Amino acid sequence: MNPAADVTNKNVLITGGASGIGATTAKILVERGANVVISDINDAQGDALASELSAEGHSIHYMNCDVANAASVEAFFAFGNEKMGSIDVVLNNAGVDHKPSAMHEISEEDFDRNVAINLKGVWFCMRESVKYMVPNGGGHVINVASVAGLRSAPSIAAYSAVKHGVIGLTRSAAHEYTKVKLRFNAVCPSFIDTPMVQNVLAHLNEKQRNAIVKASPMRRLGKVEEVATLIAWLASDESSFVNGHEFRIDGGLLA
Ligand SMILES: NC(=O)c1ccc[n+]([C@@H]2O[C@H](COP(=O)([O-])OP(=O)(O)OC[C@H]3O[C@@H](n4cnc5c(N)ncnc54)[C@H](O)[C@@H]3O)[C@@H](O)[C@H]2O)c1
Repeated sequence: MNPAADVTNKNVLITGGASGIGATTAKILVERGANVVISDINDAQGDALASELSAEGHSIHYMNCDVANAASVEAFFAFGNEKMGSIDVVLNNAGVDHKPSAMHEISEEDFDRNVAINLKGVWFCMRESVKYMVPNGGGHVINVASVAGLRSAPSIAAYSAVKHGVIGLTRSAAHEYTKVKLRFNAVCPSFIDTPMVQNVLAHLNEKQRNAIVKASPMRRLGKVEEVATLIAWLASDESSFVNGHEFRIDGGLLA
């Protein structure tokens, strides 16, 4: 018996699936027998990942989708539903950070972009999930928030604010939709070794980089596989009584 969480034949949509946490989660899910449709705004990487995994015999498709655009999100869900026949799990993972700045110096452009992609984009996808999952008899929406959505995050206050918002959306929806068998949960990673974080680290000096790594009791960044396997378990029926929860995956940072 395969001891890993069973996601065989689960039909899963992933936003921001071309890179980092989304890409690795897509890979792990299809390798465990799920059908996956990923979307992103990075077509070159999204296409390449879907082609590579398809060539290995896995069930995966890619489509361009800007989560900040409602029509684009609607088209992605329609495409995913058409390719897989139904939608069981949605991973709202697409996200951006912003230039580290004191709260009062964050540009309005950065603030608006964080709201549009990281918060309103998640809401667009949650709204669309309800439309497809209710007639289908149930489903599970997993939102990628952050430890920055659970505590202060100096120098990235706008990011922290919208990730708190994602947790608010997740908790409220978890209460509202139980009667129609929908579940909503959030995962809250600390610093995970992805292109987004490498980009942040590249702008810091060695002392600042070390401070980030040493802030964790485990003295390292998280690995994308460690987040992806938590998501895989959530995507499986083994998590069936879990609803409205925020899973910290932070090596003990907030312990
Ligand atoms: N890496 C970390 O340390 C960390 C920690 C906490 C939370 N997160 C969250 O995890 C999620 C994934 O981040 P990652 O670290 O894998 O970053 P990443 O940059 O590797 O991947 C993010 C993906 O989202 C895509 N994207 C950006 N804007 C988009 C849009 N408007 N529409 C659709 N796709 C868009 C990007 O093209 C990219 O492929 C994000 O929501 C991020 O906030 C990451």
